[in-house]
Amino acid sequence: MRILTGIQPSGKLHWGNYFGAMKPIIDLQEKGETFVFVAQYHALTTVHDAAALRESSLDVALDFLACGLNPEKACLFMQSDVPELHELAWLLSVVTPMGLLERCHSYKDKMARGIAASHGLFAYPVLMAADILAYQSDLVPVGRDQKQHVEVTRDIAAKFNQIFGREVFKMPEPMISEAVAVIPGLDGQKMSKSYHNTIGLFEEPKEVKAKIMKIATDSTPLEEPKDPDACRVFALYKLFANEAEQAEMRENYLRGGYGYGHAKKALFEIYKRTFGPFRERREDLAAHPDVVRDILAAGAAKARAAARETLAAARDAVGL
Ligand code: ADP
Ligand code: TRP
Repeated sequence: MRILTGIQPSGKLHWGNYFGAMKPIIDLQEKGETFVFVAQYHALTTVHDAAALRESSLDVALDFLACGLNPEKACLFMQSDVPELHELAWLLSVVTPMGLLERCHSYKDKMARGIAASHGLFAYPVLMAADILAYQSDLVPVGRDQKQHVEVTRDIAAKFNQIFGREVFKMPEPMISEAVAVIPGLDGQKMSKSYHNTIGLFEEPKEVKAKIMKIATDSTPLEEPKDPDACRVFALYKLFANEAEQAEMRENYLRGGYGYGHAKKALFEIYKRTFGPFRERREDLAAHPDVVRDILAAGAAKARAAARETLAAARDAVGL
């Protein structure tokens, strides 16, 4: 089984990205052949600053490795190292109905947020389809907001196979982990860099603590029972905690005599326990850029070989 996901280098990654997109694939890497790439061409639909793109691209790669992506098991690469992608995207775009792209929520949302409509922004799902189909991916773990793009990919693949009368592309399945479908931000909305409500993956612990302490809670007095399911602190704590720890915290809320300050402290502690080792690994990797370069070069070689094979089949099917 091939598992693939991409993540855009369009800013510092946050807890929402980690629990919604990174952890699911890191957890899956033992179960199949895993491909993870830094989606620079997608980020270019919104980022037009060369230095920032370069820096964020390397950051994404370092963040994945620091958080446990194992380069011995998984193939980690930069999207820009596989130029075959663009030829494949064109072959897909000629069978992609306009209406399919016009219906995409992500495009409509970005327009509504005032991002200028470019051809790239509109055609982005076709590039994403090329990403997924180039590697004959079976499973695509993504956040709920990306599910429609995987469905569009299936439509495009089916159309191509049907028009050219060959099974050139495999049908990918989206995988959305419902438990972590939407990670709340500090203000209770979806955590997103667009809402400025994030906690960064590798933010200084001091800043993380300050953000946690500022999370708004209701005014139930310390001694009274509290509803864990209505509390943002508990929602974030659950992401890190095992079942026993979750049950214990739930119990504390319901029993009373447990304040939101206690819960915030517990959240900070469990965050440190989880991310402390990641932070150390990240510092180590950042000090050894040659190691990271080698990992990305090996990833690119493997990804490129797979993409070449698919592209050759697609070229042949269309008559090139
Ligand atoms: P942002 O909303 O900060 O711009 P992106 O749209 O770049 O984040 O998301 C990158 C990946 O992380 C996607 O797969 C997305 O589904 C996932 N993701 C982002 N924020 C969250 C969240 N709050 N909860 C769950 N998954 C998320
Ligand atoms: N569009 C995805 C996002 O914004 C990133 C992405 C690009 C992707 N290509 C992909 C995700 C292929 C999964 C598979 O988060």
